[in-house]
Amino acid sequence: MKILVVGGGGREHAIIKALKKSPDCGEIWCAPGNGGISYDARCKNIPATHVEEMVAFAKEEGFDYVVVAQDDPLALGMVDALAKEGIPAFGPDKAAAQIEASKVFSKNLMKKYGIPTAAYETFDDAEKAMDYIRARGEYPVVIKADGLALGKGVLICEDEAAAKEGLQEIMLDKKFGASGNRVVVEQFLTGPEVSVLSFTDGNVVKPMVSSMDHKRANDHDTGLNTGGMGTVAPNPYYTPEIADRCMQEIFLPTIAAMKAEGCPFKGCLYFGLMLTPDGPKVIEYNCRFGDPETQVVLPLLESDLLKIMTACTNGTLADTEVKFRAGAAACVILASGGYPVAYEKGKPISGLTEGQLPGADEVTVYHAGTALKEGQLVTAGGRVLGVTAVADTLPDALSRAYEAAGRIDFERLHKRTDIGVRALQALAAR
Ligand code: AMP
Ligand code: GLY
Repeated sequence: MKILVVGGGGREHAIIKALKKSPDCGEIWCAPGNGGISYDARCKNIPATHVEEMVAFAKEEGFDYVVVAQDDPLALGMVDALAKEGIPAFGPDKAAAQIEASKVFSKNLMKKYGIPTAAYETFDDAEKAMDYIRARGEYPVVIKADGLALGKGVLICEDEAAAKEGLQEIMLDKKFGASGNRVVVEQFLTGPEVSVLSFTDGNVVKPMVSSMDHKRANDHDTGLNTGGMGTVAPNPYYTPEIADRCMQEIFLPTIAAMKAEGCPFKGCLYFGLMLTPDGPKVIEYNCRFGDPETQVVLPLLESDLLKIMTACTNGTLADTEVKFRAGAAACVILASGGYPVAYEKGKPISGLTEGQLPGADEVTVYHAGTALKEGQLVTAGGRVLGVTAVADTLPDALSRAYEAAGRIDFERLHKRTDIGVRALQALAAR
């Protein structure tokens, strides 16, 4: 099969590396891709959000299958547009992508079908939202922009003044554009967070190995929220008992709810969960693989990713094996100093040969933001590289990933030094 992967970050690199293990994978392309991805796939510089141009390119090149990995093209209906041209694709259609693209949609879905989540109200008027928050008088309170906001549309407000400021930014100043026309105001929950990515064909759901993200920029979970500074899999808080409960109370009901609403979800559905004292609850759904969760989940996948993906598209997931190896994986993100705010690009990267670390077994370097400038790999984004190691145990995976990460350098490189520390503590406490 001739395959196109739409996107250009570490997640897409991990998807490409996993697809290439499939005996059915022929020529593989990535659009737009990046410098490091170009060692593994042919890259075509079309922005992921340019739906028409992408579909025309897919038609012209005669791709047999397209994997739409990024949220915005999914929300814009790229899978629908490809289907119209007779090109099968992995990912939800526009209607199903609402589960991530509209928080009002997903919260209302959970309420209607009794899926556990934080209590909430929705508002399209900032004054009414503020009146509600004041009358409720419980802090912190969580305010979420309805639409996609590059992962920055969630505010945790410690008091009335912060809530007022947050509503001003989202609803009146339109910091996230039309995404802030409506907001969800919800209860603040506590407990360990778990990411569970799952494959689904609209009827059957098969969860992948669980993982733990590290969202804050700095050690000890301080600093600003980022796209994710590192991950480990499996997540030690996610015991078999909790997994069973999530399957019964969250995963199966969500798949059934989407079907009942007339928008069955096909693709990768990401459950962002919080294990609260009252049981597991949904913090958010994403309509796609997580980044950098994918960089620890797919390296543990033993089954054929291409077979699984096409089974999700064709509705034959029930008959398709989804198996993960035992052991653990850890991913450490190497970011540009200043990320997630202002950072420089174009810094030469040292330590890599053809994008990988020579001599490091079981270590893979996934490229998130790199470019090739006259044959030299340079930084080209906030998150630059994800260094993933797989091992039989989490401590080994972490030490391998950190040892390997220490051999890569560029000016103003920033990484967290405590990825997996909480996971190790949770393992020790078991
Ligand atoms: P999101 O952008 O939806 O991934 O949310 C960012 C982060 O905000 C989540 O990973 C949680 O840590 C936090 N968060 C979101 N909703 C809540 C909530 N209701 N209670 C506590 N924390 C939350
Ligand atoms: N790492 C979180 C996300 O992909 O949304």
